Amino acid sequence: MIDADTRVFCVFGNPVRHSKGPIIHNAALKKQGINAVYLAFEVQDAAQAVQAVRTLDIRGASVTIPFKESVMAHIDWIDPTARAIGAVNTLVNDDGVLKGYNTDCLAAVAPLIPFGIAGKTVCIVGAGGAARAVAYGIAAHKANIIITNRTEQKGLSLAQAVHGLFIPAREMESIKADVLINTTSIGMTPKEDQISFPAGALTSDMVVMDVVYTPLKTRLLEAAEQKRCTTIDGLSMFIAQAAAQFELWTGVTPDTDLMRSILSSNM
Ligand code: ATR
Repeated sequence: MIDADTRVFCVFGNPVRHSKGPIIHNAALKKQGINAVYLAFEVQDAAQAVQAVRTLDIRGASVTIPFKESVMAHIDWIDPTARAIGAVNTLVNDDGVLKGYNTDCLAAVAPLIPFGIAGKTVCIVGAGGAARAVAYGIAAHKANIIITNRTEQKGLSLAQAVHGLFIPAREMESIKADVLINTTSIGMTPKEDQISFPAGALTSDMVVMDVVYTPLKTRLLEAAEQKRCTTIDGLSMFIAQAAAQFELWTGVTPDTDLMRSILSSNM
């Protein structure tokens, strides 16, 4: 029951209406018997969103596109890993002190661990906040990293930060990698007809992962399946990062099987 003690958690981003965060967090809050709700706010400005969190005493927030970097200037403390990555996807309101964390990093690496990462060539498409989290996590596992990105300067600086190689987007066809990870919004609703990497450069020995989960089967994963690659959809990472957020906010480990089954029936 919602009453005067109900605590508020939220996601803010733009666009945010596609987010499945409210579905899984509200289900997990209910299952744990926690008197709280999780809402989605489509906002224009990181500073104003952070001010709203303070004013309304929102207890925790997920931060999504395009605010994962810009939010950092407006909060009170940043976890060292999130600072090294240069992106925050989680705010914790600790008695009025707003703390920033990054739960994308470990979540992105977890589904790849069974395939082995050390010594592999891992190509990351994109150089935004999500790419930085993924690259930082992969670098910690001693892989050879290739970054490819539309904006060369951003791609180059991320490649340098993780001691990787930058290959311009126009040369994607030439990339040879064991693992390919799309971190851009290409392929995400409403751009689901676009593909983030040329299908012709995919080979059957590759592991292909997409962080996009709306739709679950992106054009990239569809093409990878046709080429008989191993595919990893965006749900694994999405659930793992959400579960880590839930723990930061409530101190309780959520039921990730429940999160997955609720998501699967709401895709
Ligand atoms: P996030 O924080 O979620 O990673 P972001 O920082 O805005 O979001 O980064 C989005 C990434 O997707 C960037 O790498 C962006 O490329 P640019 O650096 O060139 O902007 C990439 N991206 C988004 N839309 C794209 C498109 N239509 N074509 C190519 N790259 C695109």
